[in-house]
Amino acid sequence: MSTSRLLAELDDVGRDRRRGGYSRHVFDRGERELREWFTEQAGRRGLQVETDRNANLWAWWGEPGDDAVVTGSHLDSVPGGGAFDGPLGVVSALAAVESLRDSGFRPRRPLAVVAFAEEEGGRFGVPCLGSRLLSGGISRDAACALRDPDGTTFAEVMRAAGHDPERAGRDDAALRRIGRLVELHVEQGKGLIDLHRPVAVADSILAHGRWRFRFRGEGNHAGATPIGDRRDPMIPAARTVLAARREAAAREQARATVGRVEATPGGTNVIASAVDLWLDARAPLHPAARALVDEIARHAHEHAHDEGCTVEITEESYGDTVHFDPGLRDELRAQLDDAPVLPTGAGHDAGVLAAHAPTAMLFVRNPTGVSHAPEEHAEPDDCAAGTSALADVLRRWTA
Ligand code: GLV
Ligand code: MN
Ligand code: MN
Ligand code: MN
Repeated sequence: MSTSRLLAELDDVGRDRRRGGYSRHVFDRGERELREWFTEQAGRRGLQVETDRNANLWAWWGEPGDDAVVTGSHLDSVPGGGAFDGPLGVVSALAAVESLRDSGFRPRRPLAVVAFAEEEGGRFGVPCLGSRLLSGGISRDAACALRDPDGTTFAEVMRAAGHDPERAGRDDAALRRIGRLVELHVEQGKGLIDLHRPVAVADSILAHGRWRFRFRGEGNHAGATPIGDRRDPMIPAARTVLAARREAAAREQARATVGRVEATPGGTNVIASAVDLWLDARAPLHPAARALVDEIARHAHEHAHDEGCTVEITEESYGDTVHFDPGLRDELRAQLDDAPVLPTGAGHDAGVLAAHAPTAMLFVRNPTGVSHAPEEHAEPDDCAAGTSALADVLRRWTA
């Protein structure tokens, strides 16, 4: 079946009626439905599916084994996300396997299609949770203690889904199985539109992380409290948002985003007692990313002090700059007739695993240039070009 037709089977799964787009987070209803769908589709293509200790799904063509060629992506989304970020890579992998099988090809090396858990960190806050756990980038204890917005821990969610959270964490046996990894992904920018090409090869990922800023002040009455008597944590929070923008704009290729804010208790006629904001900050190199966050933190402390408030800053995740394997990058580029090579500001499981195995990525053109929003798109012909490129790589690496 074509990649876009296969992807269209997921149209109604995990739709977010309130935000628009899709909200699919680890082990929520929609994501569990996607897991079932993946298992069924993999089975139809003769693949054997297993779930590893960290809730990642693996579909094996032939016997599972060490030094396999691995391809895939993730099925979860950001809150209110698009249909392509994640599922396109998984669906293209299934379609590539199908086309190889139909052509009579049989791999001589183990080949697996993977769907990593909670890549966006949409439920528990830490991105690439499945691949980080697998590779030891986060400890079992730290992951198990993470709470979703309802206060449910990752350990509880794992248990409820039939997995033993005690067994989560770095999995050397699973890591040994990854001989090479290629992840196909929808492009999250406009690089390919301007170059008039359907597929690109990834080069690098910005250093990036997430920080939680908790401003505390004094809850009080919105009408009865004179302006001069307030310790309103929303004020330093708002000034910090502006500082983040200013600091990022002043640095080459840096980004700083506050996309999530929570006021406690959250009443229109209530001065908040606390405000949490989450900063996503990125820059090409580690020292610049750190300097950016340190400077934003300095402003946050200053603004909190000015209002008689406090601020507590917690790092929720961090990943250094990733350079994908140059040999694989050049090989894919040559295969694709001098395909463009693009850096990306977006994080990926392939980026986490690049420290453990030779890793490459393919990007499929996104005509809107928009991602992490419902407007994200890829045309059927471009999806087909991506899948065909992927099938060629898998054939070559497993022949
Ligand atoms: C994931 O897509 C990220 O870059 O946040
Ligand atoms: Mn994403
Ligand atoms: Mn993604
Ligand atoms: Mn400054």
